[in-house]
Amino acid sequence: MRLLAPLAFAALLQAQEAKNPATSTADVAAGAKTFRSHCSECHGFEAQGGRGPNLASGVFYHGSSDAELLRNISDGIAGTEMPGLFYSPDRVWQVVSYLRSLNARAAPAGDPAKGAAIYGAKGCAKCHRIDGSGGRLGPDLSQIGRARSAEHIRQAIATPNADVRQRYWFVSATGPEGKPVSGFLMNEDTYTVQFMDLGEQLHSMNKSDLRGYQVEMKSRMPPFPMPAADLDNLTAYLVSLRPKGGSK
Ligand code: HEC
Ligand code: HEC
Repeated sequence: MRLLAPLAFAALLQAQEAKNPATSTADVAAGAKTFRSHCSECHGFEAQGGRGPNLASGVFYHGSSDAELLRNISDGIAGTEMPGLFYSPDRVWQVVSYLRSLNARAAPAGDPAKGAAIYGAKGCAKCHRIDGSGGRLGPDLSQIGRARSAEHIRQAIATPNADVRQRYWFVSATGPEGKPVSGFLMNEDTYTVQFMDLGEQLHSMNKSDLRGYQVEMKSRMPPFPMPAADLDNLTAYLVSLRPKGGSK
């Protein structure tokens, strides 16, 4: 079964921008049946998540468009427990329709327009860019709604230190003339280290010239405590940031 996956992938590449041809009520029901017998063991009976992630929220880490769902379900996700189960595309499309039927019910609580106002008022743009405007210290959020789950976004705002990607680990060191230097770790190898300081300048230094080299895995983003309703609105706003024209 697994051996067929690469062939399936080649065929599916051509279907990159394909629209789901199987969206009738009968397709949704058939998709639910396939899901319960082949997917619920890991993703939960109602796709609520378990050993595998929640698939009901409508926000997928590995891609939320129809074409990406088709690919991820048909081929699996390399290097993870998500298997490449071989089904005909028709059958996978039915499963996608079933997931979409759950997604429609799970739109995040909160009002994106109010969230946008909170984003402005809290000064998030000092460090984050959306569609080309804002600072560069934090990640670009223009497409965050496609890349991250609502839960991840909520946590990133409420407790920034919970999950900090390596790109945002922070280097502090003493430079050649005894000058303190610090910034985000961009890259490092045995002999050199590259980092971006808080003024957004890039530096490349030889490790042998540095004294007291230290890497902190903490976020430079301060926590933003706020009422739950504000956090819902802000999360709904960020979840709404996705590529234009893509599916939900
Ligand atoms: C053996 C357990 C297992 C089975 C069976 C399984 N999955 Fe998964 N699936 C996972 C895991 C684990 C991940 C997360 C991969 C990662 O990102 O680390 C995943 C990821 C996914 C994703 C991507 C989620 C995202 O956020 O982008 C989709 C979509 C998905 N699975 C759908 C399905 C469907 C549909 C089936 C049944 C045809 C299925 N899976 C069967 C374990 C499983
Ligand atoms: C002082 C700079 C700074 C400010 C102000 C700031 N952030 Fe951040 N933010 C960061 C940095 C750096 C990261 C990456 C490290 C991490 O994950 O915490 C980050 C990460 C994030 C992430 C996770 C992104 C991902 O891809 O995982 C979200 C979401 C986020 N910030 C939203 C916000 C919101 C909303 C505000 C305003 C309430 C805000 N940030 C204010 C610096 C900042």
